[in-house]
Amino acid sequence: MPTIFVELKERTYPIYLDEGESFPDVMADRFPDRRFALVTNSRLEELYGDLIEEWCDKLHAVKHIIPDGEQYKQLDTWKGILDTLLARRLDRRAVLVAFGGGVVGDIAGFAAATFMRGIDYVQVPTTLLAMVDSSVGGKTAVNHPMGKNLIGAFHQPRLVFIRTGFLTTLPDREYFAGYAEVFKNAFIGGPEMFAFIDKRHGELMAKDPNALKEAIDRSVRIKARIVSEDERESGNRALLNFGHTFAHALENNYKYTGILHGEAVHWGMACALDLACRSKLVPPSAVGRFESIRSKILRPELPSPPQPDDLYRAMFSDKKNLHGALRLVLPTEPGISSITEGIDEEAITATLKNVFTD
Ligand code: NAD
Ligand code: GLY
Repeated sequence: MPTIFVELKERTYPIYLDEGESFPDVMADRFPDRRFALVTNSRLEELYGDLIEEWCDKLHAVKHIIPDGEQYKQLDTWKGILDTLLARRLDRRAVLVAFGGGVVGDIAGFAAATFMRGIDYVQVPTTLLAMVDSSVGGKTAVNHPMGKNLIGAFHQPRLVFIRTGFLTTLPDREYFAGYAEVFKNAFIGGPEMFAFIDKRHGELMAKDPNALKEAIDRSVRIKARIVSEDERESGNRALLNFGHTFAHALENNYKYTGILHGEAVHWGMACALDLACRSKLVPPSAVGRFESIRSKILRPELPSPPQPDDLYRAMFSDKKNLHGALRLVLPTEPGISSITEGIDEEAITATLKNVFTD
């Protein structure tokens, strides 16, 4: 039985995290007399073809496979999903299953949001990033040549089914990138989460299964709470973007190649912490505890050394900014951050120089 819920009144939904039930049983129970379609990608079909076949057989589900890669998170791929749903005569009562990482989840979620003006869908995340972040919260999207996630909709799933066992096949690079979205919760998820990450970081780096399950459980609860309080990001949901303003500038700097989003978020967290200390947002009493966590932030290899001035300029295209002014999520106490405006250019460029040229 699930113990985690995203509370959204009549749209409240459960998150199954390594509970005993099998996926087809959960689906048959939750959606009696419904037709199903499962969307996944070519890589997952290679790795989990037998399991996908078994699930599709049991649920009599239509299967649709998309190519693997962020470059396919675009309108043609979305149209391909809709074409299949229409060709197989699925209707408004159909339930779509997204089996994969954030790319499959975002695009299948957007197909569910738009097919027949919106049908039910379920997330089965298979990457660490998708388990702790993208499968929960109802942001669905595809990219446009003008930018990432520019076409999309808020459309909450009906349930999320997490099996941490899928992570055993995830490449290390993807695992450590996804770990950024766990680690960021040390800054926004309260003092207990700060202490948890500080203490269990070594085990999480070594992919210890117990530590990992607890980290996912804690991260999902934090995200579920924030989304319940601010579904459409008019306030505190922006906290989930801790480190992301710097990260987006970095990704943009490399034109989204040679760096994974999570890798950029690790650097972004180092910047946010440096800036908060420099701007005296962190009280002297907390500096020591932040030092301990600072030493644990990863610094993944970058394609080339970035220029601080370029990064500073790129920070201004962040979606959180209002009227051209930077809005940054910065830490104040262990586990607590707030949305901050009015940090001056001098401090930000000093941070960028310090973090990237040390
Ligand atoms: P991804 O979906 O591209 O997956 C990364 C790679 O791992 C892919 O090659 C994939 O095929 C492979 N893979 C997936 N599961 C695997 C497994 N169990 N074993 C082996 N390989 C596996 O990338 P991602 O990091 O999961 O997601 C990134 C996407 O998520 C971006 O498009 C981003 O915009 C989006 N995102 C959305 C939200 C949201 O709230 N909706 C939040 C964060 C990120
Ligand atoms: N990944 C940020 C959010 O879901 O709001």
